[in-house]
Amino acid sequence: MQHLSSKEIKELRSKFRESKQHKYLSEVSLIADKDSTALFNVAGMQPLIPYLMGKEHPLGKRVYNIQKCIRTVDIDEVGDSSHLTFFEMMGNRSLGDYFKKEAVTRSREFLTQYLEMDSRKLAVTVFEGDEGAPRDEETAKYRKEAGLDPSRISYLSAKHNRWSPGPIGPCGPDTEIFFRVGESELPPEGSNVKNDEDNWLEIWNNVFMEYYRDESWKLTKLTKQNVDTGMGHERMCKVLQKKETIYETDLFTQAMQTIEQYTWLSYAEHQRRFRIIADHSRTAFMLINDGLIPSNVGAGYVLRMIIRRLVYNTMLLKESSIEHYQTFLSSLLTAFQTLRAFKKEEIMRVLIGEVKMFQRTIQNGMQILTSIINKEKAEGKTLISGANAFKLYDTYGFPIELTREIAWENAMQVDEEWYLKVAEQAREKSRQATKDMFKKGIDRSKYIEWLPQTKFIGYTSLENKQAKLLKDFEVGGQRVLIFDKTPFYPEMGGQLGDSGRITLEDWSEQKILTTQNFAGVILHLVE
Ligand code: ALA
Repeated sequence: MQHLSSKEIKELRSKFRESKQHKYLSEVSLIADKDSTALFNVAGMQPLIPYLMGKEHPLGKRVYNIQKCIRTVDIDEVGDSSHLTFFEMMGNRSLGDYFKKEAVTRSREFLTQYLEMDSRKLAVTVFEGDEGAPRDEETAKYRKEAGLDPSRISYLSAKHNRWSPGPIGPCGPDTEIFFRVGESELPPEGSNVKNDEDNWLEIWNNVFMEYYRDESWKLTKLTKQNVDTGMGHERMCKVLQKKETIYETDLFTQAMQTIEQYTWLSYAEHQRRFRIIADHSRTAFMLINDGLIPSNVGAGYVLRMIIRRLVYNTMLLKESSIEHYQTFLSSLLTAFQTLRAFKKEEIMRVLIGEVKMFQRTIQNGMQILTSIINKEKAEGKTLISGANAFKLYDTYGFPIELTREIAWENAMQVDEEWYLKVAEQAREKSRQATKDMFKKGIDRSKYIEWLPQTKFIGYTSLENKQAKLLKDFEVGGQRVLIFDKTPFYPEMGGQLGDSGRITLEDWSEQKILTTQNFAGVILHLVE
């Protein structure tokens, strides 16, 4: 197998795709279009959805790209050996051109001939079939013809081997390629993904996009048979540089050194926090570089949380002045400079503004926590109550992780069980409060002032082709839409309000949880 740097992997992959007549497609912003239901670009194919659905692409039928992506669903897992919130996806696409045979043969060619991977260390999965689409014997056949040992093929269900960017949209069976990462150099005979999952790492997914899944989860054939593939750049670096985890690859070397120099601690002894700092700073730099600023809603809120986690994880390793911290962040930015030509000044300005604000939150929380600790200590107690820990987090924005650490430094503990209970109760209360806002005697008139009564057209048409959006607002975290007419029957006299879906003018689809009536105006509560 070749040993390749992160840069060389990208170059070799481009060379291969160009030799197969693919045109290069530029990357798009990490921040999703306003008409998307997602906050971020989560997959390399996201900008290509209209073309997978049938639209002609100006670059032709074969394209390849390397697309920056953000996935934050597993943010709490960051710090382990494999999770990242930012990654780059190398993908090639056939938009109604080549299909299964070529996709399978070419992926094999790239891995074994270009990257010189040992074919004995490769395994694949294919779709086992269900009522919506047949078992993918065809792909398995091409895999074997390309030289794969049949015992390395696993047939898996739609949960594993059907890929789609969201619940509704283009999708298809996929075939995933895995590389041996187990203890023994070569996989034992008969080992495959189904019977020995932990010893195989997915490196490349090939999706055969030939279906469209609608609201009722029914699959219909698309007009074209497409191929959509995705190969994570970071994972390829790990495999080709023979590293234990992605954090030891050349993508992170300089960042880890920078953190070591700043904290005077070693990566080997503080892997989890080092990884969180490296991952979160990289993600924050990339997001701000794409124009996002921290805020209290949507994508901006996610960025705020990422920066806060970055800050307190650094604080827990080392405390320093804001000037010193600023120098550290700036060196970290330089450590990732090979990734992008960053707008350095802009990034530092936004980041430091946010850090300063968070520091005030922390100082305030610290004072409160110190007085709690002193009080408990005076009474000879060693437990910080769940209610106090939750109040610090919920009312003062003080992270529970900090409360835990500071408690520990004072030979105390947080009552975790109660903390979880109180947190869950508070969540339930806020859900209820939102519901109550629309139920009880709350004065809602100010929200609907000047609005005409909604025309109910549910008796004549269940699907309302067109209505005018009169108002779109938020109360207590609940988004509400009001139209001039609607087929949704509102909650009345103990009967539940209608739920369903609405497509707005910007083509964003909104799920309506329920509908309520206020003085003849019908309120549509959005999920
Ligand atoms: N779009 C597919 C994925 O992200 C290839 O796995």
